[in-house]
Amino acid sequence: MERTFVMIKPDGVQRGLVGEILSRFEKKGFKIVAAKFGVLPEAVVDKHYEEHLAKPFYPGMKAYITSGPVLRFVLEGDNVIATVRKMNGATNPAEAAPGTVRGDYALSIGKNVIHASDAPESAAREITIHFTDAEIVSYEKID
Ligand code: CMP
Repeated sequence: MERTFVMIKPDGVQRGLVGEILSRFEKKGFKIVAAKFGVLPEAVVDKHYEEHLAKPFYPGMKAYITSGPVLRFVLEGDNVIATVRKMNGATNPAEAAPGTVRGDYALSIGKNVIHASDAPESAAREITIHFTDAEIVSYEKID
């Protein structure tokens, strides 16, 4: 069974999109196995976005991602990593198809509502950054 890390960013929370976005994943059939709500500590942001630390947009992105609470969660299900990426749409909302989270709700690449792991390696890395093993819950889901 595959797992992925997902984060609804400050703009998604502030615009009241949390329920709508979670609902998409629940209706698709994915299981929420961990969740945390709050402002990201700076050290967590630097670890999570390690590969972007030297990018010119990093300081602005860091300021934005810590500007308000985010909802972090882990989803479990068959093919969940690729499917959630598809459901979120392209990182640049201008290229995101209608019907995807970013296609429906985002306009700028900076404020693009949601993040999800892009591959099995990044999913494993990101889940470990944000959750301990004890914070990931096992339970039976009724379809
Ligand atoms: P995310 O999927 O969270 O992973 C990296 C993030 O960097 C990405 O979403 C964007 O929000 C952000 N990003 C990528 N390119 C730019 C850019 N040119 N300007 C601002 N933010 C960017």
